[in-house]
Amino acid sequence: MKWWQNAVIYQIYPRSFQDSNGDGIGDIQGIISRLDYLEELGVDAIWLSPVYQSPNDDNGYDISDYQAIHPEYGTMEDMDELIEEAKKRSIRIVMDLVVNHTSDEHNWFVEAKKGKENPYRDYYVWRDPVDGKEPNDLGSTFGGSAWELDEASGQYYLHLFSKKQPDLNWENEQMRSDIYEMMNYWLDKGIGGFRMDVIDLIGKKPDEEITADGPKLHDYLKELHDNTLKGRDVMTVGETWSATPETAKLYSHPDRNELSMVFQFEHMMLDEQPGKTKWDLKALDLQEWKEVLTKWQVELKDDGWNSLFLNNHDTPRAVSRFGNDTEFREKSAKCLAIVSHMMKGTPYIFQGEEIGMTNRKVKSIDEVDDIESINMYTERLEEGYPEEELLHVINVKGRDNARTPVQWSAEEQAGFTEGTPWLPVQPNYKEINIENALENAESVFYTYQRLIELRKNNPIMVWGDFELLMADHPSLFVYKRSYEGETWLVCANISEEPERLLLNELSLKSKMIISNAKRTTVTSDGLVLSPYEAFVVKL
Ligand code: NOJ
Repeated sequence: MKWWQNAVIYQIYPRSFQDSNGDGIGDIQGIISRLDYLEELGVDAIWLSPVYQSPNDDNGYDISDYQAIHPEYGTMEDMDELIEEAKKRSIRIVMDLVVNHTSDEHNWFVEAKKGKENPYRDYYVWRDPVDGKEPNDLGSTFGGSAWELDEASGQYYLHLFSKKQPDLNWENEQMRSDIYEMMNYWLDKGIGGFRMDVIDLIGKKPDEEITADGPKLHDYLKELHDNTLKGRDVMTVGETWSATPETAKLYSHPDRNELSMVFQFEHMMLDEQPGKTKWDLKALDLQEWKEVLTKWQVELKDDGWNSLFLNNHDTPRAVSRFGNDTEFREKSAKCLAIVSHMMKGTPYIFQGEEIGMTNRKVKSIDEVDDIESINMYTERLEEGYPEEELLHVINVKGRDNARTPVQWSAEEQAGFTEGTPWLPVQPNYKEINIENALENAESVFYTYQRLIELRKNNPIMVWGDFELLMADHPSLFVYKRSYEGETWLVCANISEEPERLLLNELSLKSKMIISNAKRTTVTSDGLVLSPYEAFVVKL
C-alpha cells in the first residue's frame, strides 16, 4: 500500500489561511503556527497552493521564480521550517506545480521577448499573425483571445489563462529538462509530492486548436515521472478538467508510472448548462450527481485512483453549493462530508470546509478580487447582460467564495490577521469559527476528525467495492461498500424534507459507525431520515 491511499489531504490557500505579521496576507509562519490544529484534525498531508515568487496576476498561479518564495509569504528558510515542522507531526507538504505556463515576469519569458534568436524564445508558443490578426480562434479561460501580440517582434504568444501567464512550449526539450531540474530541487527538500495545475493542457496543439489531451501528453508525463518522481515515495495529483474515467486510467494506472491520481471535475460541472461556461447556471439534479459520482467509483476499479473533493480555491464552498448554508448548515456540511469521505479514493478537505465555512456575498464588482470573475463581468456587461444577474452568478460561482480568510475565532478579523485582510473576512465569523468548533463536541470539525480516523482504521473505506442503491431516488443517496466479507451501508438524505427509507438490508443488528443525527439504531421496516441526515452502518 502507498501512504496516500489511506491518506486525507488538506488544501491550504496560503493567502487566506493565517497571517503572522499583520500585513493582512496569510504566510508560511502563519501556517506553521497552525500545524498543531491540523494534527488534531488528523490529516496526512497539506496541498499548499503556490507560495512562489509571483506578480500575483492570478494569485500565485503566475510564477516568476519557481525556486524563490514570495516575500509576502516568507523566505526559503520559512519554507524549509514548514517542511520540517510538518514532518514532526507526520504531515507531508505537497507543492503546487504550475508548469503549463509561467508569469510573463519569469526570466525565461523576459529573455524570450528579446527576440526570435534568443535561446529562451522557443520555451513559449509564438506564432505569426494570420491576415494581420490572431493566428486562430483559441480563447483564454479568463476571457478574450488566447493570443497576445508582442509588438516588438510582430508575433503572437499563447496564453490559455491571463496574458500575464504565457504558455510554456512542452515540445522544447531543454525547457522540459529545466522543469525536471526544478522539480528535483523541491523533491530533494523532502516534500510529499505535487499537485499539478491544469496538467491536461501541456500536450496542447494550438494550431489545431487542441488544448486538453494533446497527442503527446502522456509521453511527457512518463518522461516527467522518469526524471523526477521515479523511486521516490511521493504522491502526485493532476488537475484535469477534461478527465473521463478512461483517461483517468491513463494518468493513474499503477503500471503506467505517470501520476498517483487526478482531480476530475465531472460532478463539479453539473450545475452549469452543458456546452456553456461555469457562469451559465442550471439547477443541480441529485440523480445526475449520484450517477456521475457512481460512474467514477465503479469504472476506475483497480485500474486507477480517485480523488474525492467537493470544493477547492476555484469553486464555491461545498455547503453553500451542495448543502444548505442557513437553516441546515452544520447538518448538511456533516452530511456532505460523510457522503464524500465514505467513497473510494483520497479525500481532500479545503481550508474552512471542516467547520462548514460558507460562500461570500458581494453587492458590487468593486468588492471582487478574482481576475476570472472581473473579466467575465466586464465582458458580459459589454454584451448587455444585466449587472444584477452578473453579480448573482459571481456570488454563486465566483472564486472569491472560497478565498475569504479562514475564520479562526470570534476575535477581530476572525483571528486571521492583526491588520486589514486582503479580502474581507465573512460577517458570520463570530458564529462560524474554529475556536467555537473545537469547543463543541457536536461540531462539523469532529465529524471530519472521526471520518479521517475511520479511514485509518478500516480498510473497507480504502479498498471496499462500491455499489449504488436506490439510483432513481431524487433525494436519498444510498450506497454500499464491501470488503472481505464486510459490508457498510451509507445513507444520506440530501434534501430539506424528511424522507422515508425502506431497506431490507437494515436491521436492529446493524452497527452504527457514524451519524450526524445522533441516531443509534436502524430497522428494516421504514425509517424517516430528517433533512440532511446521514449515517453509516455496518451490516
Ligand atoms: C487552475 C488553478 O487552480 C487556478 O486557480 C488557476 O487560475 C489556473 N489553474 C491557472 O493556473
